[in-house]
Amino acid sequence: MAAPQVQILVCVNDRPPEKKKPCCAPRGGLELYRQFKDRVRDRGLRDTVMVTRTGCLKHCSRGTVVAVWPYNLWYRKVTLDDVDEILETTVIGEGQVVERLAMPDIPWE
Ligand code: FES
Repeated sequence: MAAPQVQILVCVNDRPPEKKKPCCAPRGGLELYRQFKDRVRDRGLRDTVMVTRTGCLKHCSRGTVVAVWPYNLWYRKVTLDDVDEILETTVIGEGQVVERLAMPDIPWE
């Protein structure tokens, strides 16, 4: 694989039930990661796009959280239904923002 031009980070962090802080795993983080992987493959983008599952991306109350680099774009409450739009707009569109999913300017958690 050549060096990726775009990296999609998907939070799959899980916390024990006794922790009060929310996390992305029970909101479908792993399923979202798999959907990004599948759709990147289906669209023939694997040579340039890397999809990575991560730990906490520090916006836990807005999960499931996705970040797209090198554009430094952060998305909130991303669902399976949003994957194709993010790929089309931000990845193929080279950094255009999906406004309805854009992370507000909130403190890091
Ligand atoms: S657990 Fe996903 S952003 Fe913190």
